[in-house]
Amino acid sequence: MLTTGLEWTRTGVLWFFTIGVAVFSWRFMVGGVEATMEFVAYHAQLRPIAFFAHVILAPVALALVPFQLWQGLRDRRPLVHRLMGRAYGMAVVISGASGLWLAVTTEAGPVAAFGFGLLAVLWLGTTLTGIRLAMRGDRIAHRRWMIRSIALTLAAVTLRIQIPVGMILEIPFDTAYPVIAWLCWVPNLIVAELILRWPRRSTVRLRAPA
Ligand code: HEM
Repeated sequence: MLTTGLEWTRTGVLWFFTIGVAVFSWRFMVGGVEATMEFVAYHAQLRPIAFFAHVILAPVALALVPFQLWQGLRDRRPLVHRLMGRAYGMAVVISGASGLWLAVTTEAGPVAAFGFGLLAVLWLGTTLTGIRLAMRGDRIAHRRWMIRSIALTLAAVTLRIQIPVGMILEIPFDTAYPVIAWLCWVPNLIVAELILRWPRRSTVRLRAPA
């Protein structure tokens, strides 16, 4: 009973933050980049293709996360899982490559550049490895790598929680931001590795193919 309650809460939190942050990220479509994303508006002017590819497609990958983790959908509609998986993969490849370019060219300093840059490389690497394993039919290894990929996708959520927390703690933005460029994904990856090492304690079921 308690486990079911916890699982429902976890599922609710996941849907709320993934869909919420994805929709919030598209706010520039309504309000414009200058007004809604002032601190990264220079990217939109200097490298519009990379910027718009990233801010349009990275939220697509994020919004697909709860669907791809939905065990019932995977079991009942495997074709939908595969089609959404392809969309997730394409969204990650394009927005990861463009995110890498934004990281290399960021004006937030070298610590932020390196943090976001390494995140982009790992995001692309884990996702492409997961997709390659799915194509090879190795479902167990595919799930393990996709959990790592999703942990990195969720950096978008942790970052958008950590930025306001930094503001509440009155840490100057220029000090907080480079730290957050690391803090938004390193703990996620550690949690993913812990989940993968103790699979029986997690809700992620790594079942052998039937
Ligand atoms: C996981 C790999 C990711 C990397 C490496 C990455 C990298 C970046 C970089 C470097 C910037 C510019 C920041 C700056 O120069 O100060 C940026 C901005 C942005 N990214 Fe990502 N990103 C990633 C994932 C995501 C995801 C999954 C989303 C989905 C919501 C997302 C949405 C955005 C948005 C909306 C912006 C514009 C600024 C803002 O609203 O915060 N990114 N990203």
